Amino acid sequence: MNKNILVTGAAGFIGFHLCKKLIENGTRIIGIDNINDYYDIELKKKRLEILSQTSFKKNWIFFKTDLLDKDQLLQIFQDHKPETVINLAAQAGVRYSIENPRAYINSNILGFQNILDCCKESRIKHLLYASSSSVYGGNINSSFSELDSVDHPVSVYAATKRANELFAHTYSHLYNIPSTGMRFFTVYGPWGRPDMAPMIFANSIFSRKPIKVFNFGKMSRSFTYIDDVIDSIERLIQKPPSIDKKFDKKKPRPNSSWCPHRIFNIGNNESIKLEEFIYLLEKEIGKNAIKEYEDIKPGDVKETKSDNSILKEWIGDCPKTPLDQGINKFINWYKNFYNY
Ligand SMILES: NC(=O)c1ccc[n+]([C@@H]2O[C@H](COP(=O)([O-])OP(=O)(O)OC[C@H]3O[C@@H](n4cnc5c(N)ncnc54)[C@H](O)[C@@H]3O)[C@@H](O)[C@H]2O)c1
Repeated sequence: MNKNILVTGAAGFIGFHLCKKLIENGTRIIGIDNINDYYDIELKKKRLEILSQTSFKKNWIFFKTDLLDKDQLLQIFQDHKPETVINLAAQAGVRYSIENPRAYINSNILGFQNILDCCKESRIKHLLYASSSSVYGGNINSSFSELDSVDHPVSVYAATKRANELFAHTYSHLYNIPSTGMRFFTVYGPWGRPDMAPMIFANSIFSRKPIKVFNFGKMSRSFTYIDDVIDSIERLIQKPPSIDKKFDKKKPRPNSSWCPHRIFNIGNNESIKLEEFIYLLEKEIGKNAIKEYEDIKPGDVKETKSDNSILKEWIGDCPKTPLDQGINKFINWYKNFYNY
């Protein structure tokens, strides 16, 4: 059992769920977040309130810190000596990255660099970090595998996430830091992100506002329920990568290495059309959506589909929440939280 785990982005959607589950299981969590206003700060504060209430065993400590503040980060690492570090803090969002590239360079490149340096200084046992399905960029394969090329990003966000994978590999090689890259695919569920389609669609249906359906509805996503993501992360925590003895430098596998670094897709292996996702939301909410069809936006990809065979081989079969069940739990939370 890992005793001290440091989680960045702890007030965020995935970070909150991960911290809650780990605290409940008796792990001591050191949470970090700058609580920025990219989306509703109240939602982040409420998540943090729940984490403090969950931590009846005093296994939760939180620091409002920016990843750019290296001195403070180093101090936190020195004082709390985490064995495992999970970096989820990032400037997220594909479309926002087209207008605000600097925010991504700051948090995702310079901030992540600081995390890597802290991991190096404090000789942690395992670094796990968030990457994204967006690294697959312009690929049009029927499903995205970690063995595919990821050299053609189509958004600044995707480029920074790919850069994270390359920097993590480099630090793993230079300083022998066991590192796991996690490529998340469209995560949804209770306490979800207000800037993402599931929340935007639910808001619009409840308040009878039009939904913008991009690429004229011909988009599909590996919608992945939050609990399934948390379950995979928990299993990955227990299995820090070691060197891949079968790694062949003449035929290098992109997801593995001679150093302790691995990359995994974390996504549902079914790709669902946006129209179908909206239909299930309508059914659950009991109201029809008002749809406005529009062209695809710059930086968007038409389809994502996770091939999770490599993940399954590594951590065993992971739970897969059926979409209707996931949407049911999401909408129940939504009604309760927003008083509908
Ligand atoms: N949710 C998804 O579907 C999805 C998909 C692919 C990848 N990801 C990645 O997973 C991670 C978590 O995503 P999420 O959905 O929970 O996002 P989120 O925005 O809800 O959480 C990120 C948190 O990081 C914090 N943060 C941002 N910049 C920071 C900085 N410089 N210093 C300290 N804290 C900072 C934010 O305040 C936020 O609370 C991110 O790295 C994201 O890019 C998420």
